[in-house]
Amino acid sequence: MGGISQQTNPNRKLRLAVLISGRGSNLQSIIDACRIDEFPAQIKVVISNIGDAYGLVRAHENNITTRFVSHKNFATKAEFETKILSILEEFEIDLVCLAGFMRILSPTLITPWEGRIINIHPSLLPKHKGLHTHERALEEGDSESGCTIHYVTPGMDEGEIILQKTVPIIAGDTPETLAARVLVQEHIAYPEAIRIMASKLQHNL
Ligand code: GAR
Repeated sequence: MGGISQQTNPNRKLRLAVLISGRGSNLQSIIDACRIDEFPAQIKVVISNIGDAYGLVRAHENNITTRFVSHKNFATKAEFETKILSILEEFEIDLVCLAGFMRILSPTLITPWEGRIINIHPSLLPKHKGLHTHERALEEGDSESGCTIHYVTPGMDEGEIILQKTVPIIAGDTPETLAARVLVQEHIAYPEAIRIMASKLQHNL
């Protein structure tokens, strides 16, 4: 075959799927980044497991295709994840971004995507895996917190770290004030992590 095919073009934008379950403010930060001409990625589909997730509204407002896949409609987690796998294939996705997607994924989905599926977590991993991160950071008297973007592996919140952003914990903080401070950094971190992933993945496209 002659010429430069789409498959070998180092400047081709990464095709993203963003998986959400709720508010979608991290999705919004990715949408906003994708408006920048030289940003190396574009969102091809937003998948939500919650039908009234506000993130779906954000996607519609930005003319982004959405899919609602309720985990409740499947007898097993494997069937739910197989449905998501088929959507990722349909949209020829390069990188899967979990952005407030609140289902724990199994190897059915993770294994075929390992190295190309990333998550944002609102703590400085390995501290405070799982839920209620801000409450736990305050209870333990931490002096700082933040967010982590990491590869998704079968161990929850255990994959290799791509980047972290740190914020101070200030006297008088509540889980809400700390969450808000961390969220500002989340919105900076996700686009930055996608740029890092693009530079890693683009030569394979
Ligand atoms: C974000 O704070 C994200 O880090 C967190 O859920 C929130 C989603 O907000 N994710 C997790 O806790 C994953 N375990 P958003 O819907 O506004 O992006």
